[in-house]
Amino acid sequence: MNEPHDGVAVALKPIAEAEAIALALQSRRSINLFEPEPVGEAVLMEAIELASWAPNHRMTEPWKFYVIGKRTKQSIAQCAADFEAETKGARSGEARLKRLLAIPAYFIVTTAVGKDDLTDREDYAATCCAVQNLSLYLWQRGVGVKWTTGAITREQRFYDLLGIDPTKEMIVGFFWYGLPKVVPEQSRKPVSEIAVRLP
Ligand SMILES: Cc1cc2nc3c(=O)[nH]c(=O)nc-3n(C[C@H](O)[C@H](O)[C@H](O)COP(=O)(O)O)c2cc1C
Repeated sequence: MNEPHDGVAVALKPIAEAEAIALALQSRRSINLFEPEPVGEAVLMEAIELASWAPNHRMTEPWKFYVIGKRTKQSIAQCAADFEAETKGARSGEARLKRLLAIPAYFIVTTAVGKDDLTDREDYAATCCAVQNLSLYLWQRGVGVKWTTGAITREQRFYDLLGIDPTKEMIVGFFWYGLPKVVPEQSRKPVSEIAVRLP
């Protein structure tokens, strides 16, 4: 029986049945450093299928997942490096290119936009839930993900390169994925600081 809260004890499934998901939620980290070999698209396609089971109001299914092949990967890296060179100088641009080419593989997630503000907002929330589904599944398969929202993701040239119409879709993230080389440490505030109990 669960600890009675407001006087009613309810039967829950044993905590052991939730251990795997609890561990995945807690152990998943954003990965910055990857092994060089890409993991292949098959596992990403599995993750995309599971991502789409995220909650979404009015069943809009607002997400799209762009699976990036080698040629587009090269173009994205060059586009981001050019942008960096223009904004921060040639040396930064070169470093950016090297860094991005060392990432094993990318995918990009968009969410539908252009309806009313409330729908766009709810769709964005749903797409973020889908991203978390995807990330957790990949994590459980030993694949790390990094979600990035650098300035390049808001540039028209980035949309053009991907063939995305910004009046219809917004880029939610430029994602890197692969086998983690280093898993960083992280911490979170204690529950007592974030849970607000009202009588
Ligand atoms: C919407 C969103 C955007 C993010 N953008 C970036 C980014 O541009 N660069 C970056 O290094 N990390 C980015 N992150 C990753 C966060 O830095 C990371 O989630 C945070 O440090 C907590 O680490 P953890 O994911 O390992 O728990 C982003 C995360 C989210 C949810």
